[in-house]
Amino acid sequence: MTSASSRFIPPGATLGVMGGGQLGRMFVHAAQQLGYFTAVLDPDPASPAGWVAHHHVQAEYLDEAGLAQLMQRSAAITTEFENVPAAALVTLGAHRPVAPGADAVAICQDRALEKAHFRRCGVPCAAHALIETEAQLAAVDAALLPGILKTARLGYDGKGQARVRDRAELAAAWAAMKGVPCVLEQRLDLAAEISVIVARGADGQVVHLPVQRNLHRDGILAVTTVPAGIADALSAQAIAAATRIAESMQYVGVLCVEFFVLGDGSLAANEMAPRPHNSGHYSIDACDLSQFELQVRTLAGAPLVAPRLHSAAVMLNLLGDLWFARADDATEPDWAAVLALPGTHLHLYGKTQPRRGRKMGHLTITAATAEGAREIALRAAVALGLEAF
Ligand SMILES: Nc1ncnc2c1ncn2[C@@H]1O[C@H](COP(=O)(O)OP(=O)(O)O)[C@@H](O)[C@H]1O
Ligand SMILES: [Mg+2]
Repeated sequence: MTSASSRFIPPGATLGVMGGGQLGRMFVHAAQQLGYFTAVLDPDPASPAGWVAHHHVQAEYLDEAGLAQLMQRSAAITTEFENVPAAALVTLGAHRPVAPGADAVAICQDRALEKAHFRRCGVPCAAHALIETEAQLAAVDAALLPGILKTARLGYDGKGQARVRDRAELAAAWAAMKGVPCVLEQRLDLAAEISVIVARGADGQVVHLPVQRNLHRDGILAVTTVPAGIADALSAQAIAAATRIAESMQYVGVLCVEFFVLGDGSLAANEMAPRPHNSGHYSIDACDLSQFELQVRTLAGAPLVAPRLHSAAVMLNLLGDLWFARADDATEPDWAAVLALPGTHLHLYGKTQPRRGRKMGHLTITAATAEGAREIALRAAVALGLEAF
């Protein structure tokens, strides 16, 4: 069993998740709503998902006894972050349905494999080169500069990246990254960033959420807006590309593909995540089927139906910086001011230590119209001391 079987696992069973962060927590919430029991494996005694799951297996991701305990508890297992060691998924997959499977996760863990997969699917992405050796560094095509050097593995939220203008900066940046395998990408002129979440069942059925528009600050997602306000044809193209990307990996689960919209209106795939994504959190409050319920359904082999966006939405990420907006000592933001606004849905992840750049929660504003959601979101931003958008 390397991927989830299409056999339906009914509510009352226990679903397991590797990783105890906020994505695991929201998966647990969705699973519990459907009547499943839940088990989380995470080494942290105080993890956001560990707090709320029925069972918390406190162990390292490769700990044999911990994995055995998770398997013994769970009828099927998913993952909430893409850097779960592939070996752990292989171990689990030998005994239980695991979705997504180790092969697909391995592609998403490596920017070079990921880009090769996009190309195999006929999906354009930024011109790039793999840099693993001094010779490859020296041979870099000048057309890739100015560029962005990204570690092939383990990058997230803009970490493991450096913007480089010329060969000297490139060499210095690669040295600063200690010569680990990297991908140098041509820096593209972005008109917008969008992402699409698709869910694929073990029976091959694919459904998708509406395309969302994303604004990043310092490499971290700051604001997601839905509807994205892009041409229908472009949305359709992004959805078709994400669907192809999922199908050609025989993917089972929820997959998010990030795209750049370029100046000439064309699309380039940026990266993908083999799990629910920060840019899909709005779906909890603005869609009749959230990305987390889709994750539960794909894992449990439950039927998939097309999600419907019932409200326009703006999602604001709440980073730890907010706690330090007014003073050097952590001060709780003014949640009451936000909750006094109509259509606000506050999600806090139960993290007790605010730190700059740490994802502490998110706020989704739903309204009947995009303009209405934006107006309230701007008022919420003011109340919290967030930059306008
Ligand atoms: N080739 C590129 N050209 C222009 N901007 C880029 C490029 N690659 C990344 N960026 C910017 O940096 C952000 C983070 O890069 P990304 O590859 O998505 O890494 P992460 O894994 O940290 O999310 C993107 O959302 C985009 O704003
Ligand atoms: Mg990204």
